Amino acid sequence: MAATASAEYAVQHLIDPEICIRCNTCEATCPVKAITHDARNYVVDFKICKLCNDCIAPCPTGAIDNWRQVAKSAPFTLEEQFSWDSLPPQGELQVAADSEVPAQVRELTEIATAGQGGAVAPPWSASHPYANLYSIAQPATATVTGNLRLTGEQASADVRHIVLDFGNTAFPVLEGQTLGVLPPGLDGNGRPHFVRLYSVASPRDGERPHYNNVALTIKRVTENHEGTATLGVGSNYMCDLKIGETVRVVGPYGTSFLMPNHPGSSIMMICTGTGSAPMRAMTERRRRRMALKEGGELMLFFGARRREELPYFGPLMKLPKDFIDINLAFSREPGQPKTYVQDLIRARGRDVERLLRDDNCYIYLCGLKGMESGVLEAFRDVCSEHGLDWDRLKPELRTKSRLHIETY
Ligand code: A2P
Repeated sequence: MAATASAEYAVQHLIDPEICIRCNTCEATCPVKAITHDARNYVVDFKICKLCNDCIAPCPTGAIDNWRQVAKSAPFTLEEQFSWDSLPPQGELQVAADSEVPAQVRELTEIATAGQGGAVAPPWSASHPYANLYSIAQPATATVTGNLRLTGEQASADVRHIVLDFGNTAFPVLEGQTLGVLPPGLDGNGRPHFVRLYSVASPRDGERPHYNNVALTIKRVTENHEGTATLGVGSNYMCDLKIGETVRVVGPYGTSFLMPNHPGSSIMMICTGTGSAPMRAMTERRRRRMALKEGGELMLFFGARRREELPYFGPLMKLPKDFIDINLAFSREPGQPKTYVQDLIRARGRDVERLLRDDNCYIYLCGLKGMESGVLEAFRDVCSEHGLDWDRLKPELRTKSRLHIETY
């Protein structure tokens, strides 16, 4: 190792593009907004990153666990990181001349093994999840056994219920977990498509009970975030799948957004669009156990443009009223005022307050990013109307693993 003043060198945090599944967890977690992404890679801005490690624990794959010693004057730029298909090797480590224990090496090791911030623990009674059983290098193969359009023919969105069967391959999932799909082929730059993540929509014992299969809820993407017409690679690949075709699957992922299992536990579910997938999984798990009379409540707030755009509308409406308290918010139903889930949370303030106070009630949010702040504001309003302090309650909900958020 070269003996050089360590002050000239620093540790740079990097994300491995070969392992990253582009789930956005790191970017959403980073308290200083050092992480950003383009259409392909997630990258860390050396100038902003404080090496606080908040992003480390929530990363489902470990792609985040990468550091390189760099010259302070020449860290890897964002442009360089955006262009990578794999991380560059660590060059020769530079060590302070007067230091017995190489400071940079020690720092690299400490950073690599630290990092418990950021993640919300699962409910204490959640089952143990399996995670990362199949990697991009060694994916599982599943066969398509179902591909059903969920939204009405008049609906603007083509949302599908896709069933994948794993045959004799073990692919255990819990409600709330996600899996990744590797679309075949290469992108415009001749590189393999990156992983697309989808929430599992079926309960742990299979879409069909005691079958080794899972269901996914996938919306065909036909425009980008700016509204320009473009076909999403992953969703169009999935929505066009025919029965009998095979799919390369990685994961499962997620060890936090898991449902409680203890008798008497309640679940408040708030979702829009395909954010309904984990809610369907949790609801179906509870429905299959209804005869056990384990107690607890289910309360659902579900937002969609119109009735025919709402995935699982038919089966949902057949569930007994005393099993699940359903609140549907339609934003574009002709002749009706535009309603969002947060409006209904306010309208049901009394019951929401009761569940917010109940330590056995766990709250799950999944869907549009924009909904997140609206829902949290609605909780704040419900709290102030009913003598609760949201600023105190919110961190308490997180430490008690009672508030789980997955928005995109
Ligand atoms: P909107 O009619 O304003 O788009 P999508 O169909 O795009 O997946 O959206 C699902 C539902 O979420 C729609 O009813 C949509 O209403 C609604 N929505 C959009 N933005 C927000 C927001 N900030 N908070 C809550 N709901 C929202």
